Amino acid sequence: MTAKNLKGNRGMLIVLEGLDRAGKTTQCQLLYEKLTKKLGTDKVRVQKVPDRSTQIGQAINSYLISQTHLPDQAIHLLFSANRWELRDSILSSLAAGQTLILDRYVPSGVAYSLAKEVPSMTLEWCLAPDLGLPQPDVTIFLDIDPDRAKLQTARADFGRERYEVSDFQAKVRKNFKTLLGDGANPGALRMGKVVTIDACQELDEVANCIWIAIKDLHIGEKEIEIIQ
Ligand SMILES: Nc1ncnc2c1ncn2[C@@H]1O[C@H](COP(=O)(O)OP(=O)(O)O)[C@@H](O)[C@H]1O
Ligand SMILES: [Mg+2]
Repeated sequence: MTAKNLKGNRGMLIVLEGLDRAGKTTQCQLLYEKLTKKLGTDKVRVQKVPDRSTQIGQAINSYLISQTHLPDQAIHLLFSANRWELRDSILSSLAAGQTLILDRYVPSGVAYSLAKEVPSMTLEWCLAPDLGLPQPDVTIFLDIDPDRAKLQTARADFGRERYEVSDFQAKVRKNFKTLLGDGANPGALRMGKVVTIDACQELDEVANCIWIAIKDLHIGEKEIEIIQ
């Protein structure tokens, strides 16, 4: 199936992005519940990215929990390969009229690798493997200031995985803004309609902002585009 086949009453592709502990998984679940009430349970699905259930996903998992070492380039490409593994199921869901909520996607892949500041891993290099993947209709960036988030007890267990160190998170945050834009400036990456939400607000307030960003979105006859 090609991306061009997805015309008509397709599902919507929604991406939730943000730093570790921004509240992505929590908000994906809340959004799932709201959307299923509106559309029905078979019309909505949440997919975590990376998908740790595949062989590539397992290699990524063991890297993230620091059980294995891999060159920065290799892990970057594995993350991208993992998104490519998901491509067909993303397109099938949308074609079947199922709205898909992705818990992270391409922006995370690029923002984290860039934050390592490996000279040969430029923005262009990091982006190249993902070109051609389905482009979301809407990307919600749950923006947290890592220093403010640390003060919230619910998010206190920072540091379990390799990337959860505060100054690294600050670099990732800056990269997210470069990729997704910051309101005044467009981002380097085309990710559909981009909405940035202050995710240090109360859970319900964040959920409300997400709902406002999504509820009136009309995809109509719009075909799913690819990231290019
Ligand atoms: N708006 C919020 N305010 C305070 N704590 C929150 C908020 N959203 C999520 N949390 C808490 O922060 C932790 C991380 O949330 P989670 O959804 O797993 O983040 P992520 O998936 O982005 O890493 C959880 O304990 C969650 O209950
Ligand atoms: Mg999560």
